[in-house]
Parts: sequence; structure tokens; C-alpha cells
Amino acid sequence: MENKRIGVMGGTFNPIHKGHLSVAEAAMKQFKLDKILFVTGGNPPHKKNLNILPAFARHKMVCLAVEDNENFVPCDYEVTKKTYSYSLETMKYFKKTYKDTAFFFIVGADSFHDLPTWHRPRALLELCTLLVYDRKGYDMKKDHDILKKEYYCHVDFIDSEEINISSSFIREEIKNGKDITDYVPEKVNEYIKRNNLYQPKDKDLKREIRKVLNKERYIHSLGVSNTAVKMAKIYNINTSKAYIAGLLHDCAKNLSKSKALQKCSDYDVELDDFERSNRALIHAKLGERVAAAEYGITDESILLAIKWHTLGRPGMTTLEKIIYVADVIEPSREFDGIESLRELAFEDLDKAVIECTKATIAYNEKKGKPVHPNAYELIKDLENKQQ
Ligand SMILES: [Fe+2]
Ligand SMILES: [Fe+2]
Repeated sequence: MENKRIGVMGGTFNPIHKGHLSVAEAAMKQFKLDKILFVTGGNPPHKKNLNILPAFARHKMVCLAVEDNENFVPCDYEVTKKTYSYSLETMKYFKKTYKDTAFFFIVGADSFHDLPTWHRPRALLELCTLLVYDRKGYDMKKDHDILKKEYYCHVDFIDSEEINISSSFIREEIKNGKDITDYVPEKVNEYIKRNNLYQPKDKDLKREIRKVLNKERYIHSLGVSNTAVKMAKIYNINTSKAYIAGLLHDCAKNLSKSKALQKCSDYDVELDDFERSNRALIHAKLGERVAAAEYGITDESILLAIKWHTLGRPGMTTLEKIIYVADVIEPSREFDGIESLRELAFEDLDKAVIECTKATIAYNEKKGKPVHPNAYELIKDLENKQQ
């Protein structure tokens, strides 16, 4: 017996908008649904660099958009999965999780039209009823007449007004400096504004980073970037990744304390106790998220190099080690012993990481500052490898 009726509204939500919400409300009423799950899609593996915000930012906007409606529930199943999840897998997961439940999969007339291109549509349609809403330029009833012959699908039509807004239209409006208040929930609008999302970016990353760093930090970042490129050549890794990671590694460094904390909440940055009490450290983990959301960086190795550039971690990649060391030895840095460290950086990368870490520990101890446990683990990890 299927006692419960749950709607499933999946999407990239890049960003979620009022059209999604009004369709959900109409479906809820018309089909007497108990609740609707808003399932934010993960980043599709083959669609990189298409102006799709990272999943953590898109999902956060979904959470903000539905937080005042107890029947609308944000679902991060596809976002937290390591691999890309098709609707079929997600629906199977829901079937297992919610017993005695009938599922209603809400889709636009545009994706309904493309049903034959979905991943195993027949298997999916055995698990749920489709609820289709009208989209400009599509004739959903005509499509149904054609599709039902081959797919035997249970389809109902949502009586909502034709939805004329789309996420791509909204992104375009933002790029053109237009106001999007009419199209997205207020909290989503504020989120987009305060984080400067979907803004057009200068192709020259140097010019972009110059806008958010003070002069000293900008010169330091150029130094890290140049040093990292030289090291990348020595250690045979991709120099353009080293260039980008070096340039962006401190992209969250010059934010005010309140802005940094707001962004940590906006981008779901998880901080450990040590980082919470040593605010100067949060710019690394936050920097990773800023680079993804605001600079469109999708390359995982660059993002990780930014994330671990201050603390390091056991099992660092070559790029992570290079940024970690370049941050300490770049030309504008000065301290006792830096010259020998600069030489070591081009001779033995692991030893250079160990020595940079020891220098940081010594510096902190001298100043009476606590040392993060990662530092000792990192040294132990690399010393074991050297033996
Ligand atoms: Fe830094
Ligand atoms: Fe730095």
C-alpha cells in the first residue's frame, strides 16, 4: 500500500528560481502531495566550464529558496555522491529510503520532449509517475501522444502557467547588470549579490585577482605563481595549473573577518576547532571554495593545492607541495635561512616541504602561537618516505 505521495523536483538549479517554486506549489496542490524533494544535481562530468556553479553553491541556494516552506525539502543526495548520479539511481535510492510511497517526478515540457535521450527512461518510469509542466515552445500533450506508445509512461500534466523564466535567462540578466528580483527568491538574490556570482570575468586572471588583493598580497601571489611555474618545470607537472593555483592560493586572504565568516557559511566550509580559533588559517579552505564558485575553477588538483597551501597534509600531491613551498620561498619573503631553502626547493621537494614546515613550527613557537597537528603528521609522513 502506498500511503505517502512525494514529489521529486530535480535540476541543476543554476540558480533555482521562482518558476521552479510555483510549479512545485501547483503540483503539490493538484496532486495532493505530502512533500516535494528538491534534488540538486551534481556537476555533470562532461559539462565542465559551462558556467555551472559548483554543486555546494547551487545547493545552498536551493536550501535558501525553500527554507520557509516545511513541505519543500532540499536533498543533497546527488551533490554529496562521489560519482555523477542519474535520476534512475536517485529514484531507486528514494524507493529504498521511503517505504510505502508513491513518487511523482516533476519535469519541464522541454526535458519531457527529450525523454528518449534520458538514461534508461523505461526503468525510471516504472518507479514513478511523471508530472509535466508547460514550457514555452513545447507541446507536451502532443509529445505525450508520441512518447506513450513506446514508453508506456504514467504522465499527468501540471496546471500551472507556462514558465517563461529559465536559469540561463537569469544568468544572462546578471551578466548584463540587470536586476533579477522578480525572478528569484529574495534570499537567493542576496546570496548571488553578496558573493558576486555569475559575474563576467576578465580572461586575464592576474587582473581579476588584483581586484580583491591588497598590493602586498598581490605581489606575493605573483611571486608564488612564478616560483610555482619554475618548480613545476623541474618536477614535470602541468605549469598552467601551477600558475593558476599560485595566483589564486590567497584569493580569500584579504576578506574582512565578517565577510570571511559569512562566506564560510555560504559555501559550507567545514572548519576544525584549531581553524576556528586561528582565523588566519581559514583563508585556505575558504579559498578553495571561492576559487570554484567565483573564478570558475573546476580542476580538482588546483582546488586541493589552494585548500592545503597553509597546513599541508599527509599524502600531498606534487602540485600541493609546490604551492606549499612556493608560498614560503617566493622572492618577496625574507627570513634567516631562506636562501638554502630556495636551493633545496629545486633539488628535493619532499625535503623542502619538511624544512618549510619546521621553519613554520619554529616561527609559531617563538611567537608563542599553537601549532596545528597537521604540521607534525606531515613531517612524519615525508620523513618515513625519505627513509
Ligand atoms: Fe595563504
Ligand atoms: Fe600565500
